[in-house]
Amino acid sequence: MNVLAKAADLEADAPAGAFVQEVTSVQHYTDRLFRFRMTRPASFRFRSGEFVMIGLMIDGKPLYRAYSIASPSWDEELEFFSIKVPDGPLTQHLQKIQPGDAVLMKKKPTGTLVNDALIPGKRVYMFSTGTGIAPFASLIRDPDTYEKFDQVILTHTCREVAELKYGLDLVEETRNDPLIGEYAREKLVHYTSVTREDYPFKGRITDLIENGKLFTDLGVPPLDPAIDRGMICGSMEMLRDTKALLEKAGLTEGANNKPAEFVVERAFVG
Ligand code: A2P
Repeated sequence: MNVLAKAADLEADAPAGAFVQEVTSVQHYTDRLFRFRMTRPASFRFRSGEFVMIGLMIDGKPLYRAYSIASPSWDEELEFFSIKVPDGPLTQHLQKIQPGDAVLMKKKPTGTLVNDALIPGKRVYMFSTGTGIAPFASLIRDPDTYEKFDQVILTHTCREVAELKYGLDLVEETRNDPLIGEYAREKLVHYTSVTREDYPFKGRITDLIENGKLFTDLGVPPLDPAIDRGMICGSMEMLRDTKALLEKAGLTEGANNKPAEFVVERAFVG
């Protein structure tokens, strides 16, 4: 079944409440991960770190999943980082998109992984696994993040080394970016670890927090609610376990209407 349509062909019968956008580039990293970029509607505004519903027309009906926007709010295009699930209702089709194809996007972005939901601090940790790095790809390219914190520590843990490539390319591009590079070179630290292959830094982020290796490797003191802030994005289990460790260290969870010391998001697709 071919569910992919050209953007120009779908525009006339866009589902209610959705934009029809055109894919501009696609990059495959592994058989489980890819990223795509698409046009951005002129009227579409969001805060770095938010997610939006992305979809395709399947059997004549729109099917959506939540995707974190990986591009910063100043970018003229939108970028997304996605898993590929062989029988995933959406991703089995989405992984086949090519430039020129149509992607649906609901009009309202939302989310808690935003700078506004954190109280000021010295250091912000962005804990991510797999495609959970996506909202942080947006936040580490946002000048507000660097204005708010002296140090920005992005941790990314994947099963395999090849899955780290999106983040490694992203951080290098960010450090060389004319707009944000100077901030990133001074304040951004990228900590990568791998769980199922040999790699200099091995282990789940939760284990590395618990046994203190993360802090020794970074040369920083253990988590301190007075100065440290956290943002967490990954699978449901990773969110739960990382959240428990931050709470154990004395940090409390915040929200848009009640900023505090850490925030949690769910941004995965099937
Ligand atoms: P592991 O290989 O030990 O399962 P996934 O692609 O399944 O979301 O996993 C991405 C990364 O997150 C993997 O390195 C995985 O480690 C790790 N991970 C899975 N569950 C947890 C958890 N509960 N806490 C921390 N990390 C986790």
